[in-house]
Amino acid sequence: MEFEAHRVYPSIPADQRRPIRVLSLFDGIATGYLVLRDLGFKVERYIASEICDDSIAVGMIKHEGKIEYVNDVRNITRKHLAEWGPFDLLIGGSPCNDLSMVNPLRKGLFEGTGRLFFEFYRILNFLKPKEGDDRPFFWLFENVVFMSAHDKSDICRFLECNPILIDAVKVSPAHRARYFWGNLPGMNRPLSSFFDDKVNLQDCLEVGRKAMFEKVRTITTKSNSIRQGKVGSLPVTMNGKEDYLWCTEMEQIFGFPKHYTDVNNMGRGQRQRVLGRSWSVPVIRHLFAPLKDYFECESGK
Ligand SMILES: C[S@@+](CC[C@H](N)C(=O)[O-])C[C@H]1O[C@@H](n2cnc3c(N)ncnc32)[C@H](O)[C@@H]1O
Repeated sequence: MEFEAHRVYPSIPADQRRPIRVLSLFDGIATGYLVLRDLGFKVERYIASEICDDSIAVGMIKHEGKIEYVNDVRNITRKHLAEWGPFDLLIGGSPCNDLSMVNPLRKGLFEGTGRLFFEFYRILNFLKPKEGDDRPFFWLFENVVFMSAHDKSDICRFLECNPILIDAVKVSPAHRARYFWGNLPGMNRPLSSFFDDKVNLQDCLEVGRKAMFEKVRTITTKSNSIRQGKVGSLPVTMNGKEDYLWCTEMEQIFGFPKHYTDVNNMGRGQRQRVLGRSWSVPVIRHLFAPLKDYFECESGK
């Protein structure tokens, strides 16, 4: 489909940049906040809509209460947005279980959790600066690549743009092909890894553990997604025996610090559930980095 190009905002001179104000829908484990802080952004406000207690616990503990949680996206009204805003950045990736072709029982975009996409769209329309307001406003919506062609084209029609496809396998040890719709500057530029990105599985393993593969398949919320290939072998050996990935290893595969999800007495299954839904940190870093030309950052970062 053809759409009009997004408006291009000129960058802001360094001495006029302000801390960023963010609304994050479907925030998960606060990947957006983690990346902004890693990149050195000063964050004036980060309001997160999220309903999963485990995910909220991660964001709350690991970011020391800096994130303001507002619960269910469906309860956010125009009045709330007027009180909390204005915002400079709207981000979110709605649940994919009713969109992903991997789920034979998926309900599509207009039923079940698929419909939550329209909450993003509703809020995007509230937040977009009105005619004559020249303030830069950025947004990013993410979802799986493996969705039906008609769901994808409906999302494009509502968001009035085509997505770009980024696979985290280029900057991490795991495949994770995702679509990103948005108006972030430079979204289309090629993805390249930073000197400290861990791009091979072995780089993410604890001492004494050996990677049987350089790259693993997409890690989902299901424990069997850790199994590789047709015969379903496990990706690690330790003392000559096959093993699953440990939580700290999964965290590093996604680009999170070790122990990032070790809160709330969560077990292995719960930690994989929140990680398996999350964004890949180096991919989000790639997407957010150009925003440094618009918002204030810590000096030296
Ligand atoms: C695909 S995950 C997004 C994960 C996030 N991008 C991250 O990096 O961790 C979708 C998230 O939406 C949350 N969610 C589901 N229904 C919601 C609702 N009604 N309001 C707010 N969040 C919701 C889920 O708990 C889940 O964490």
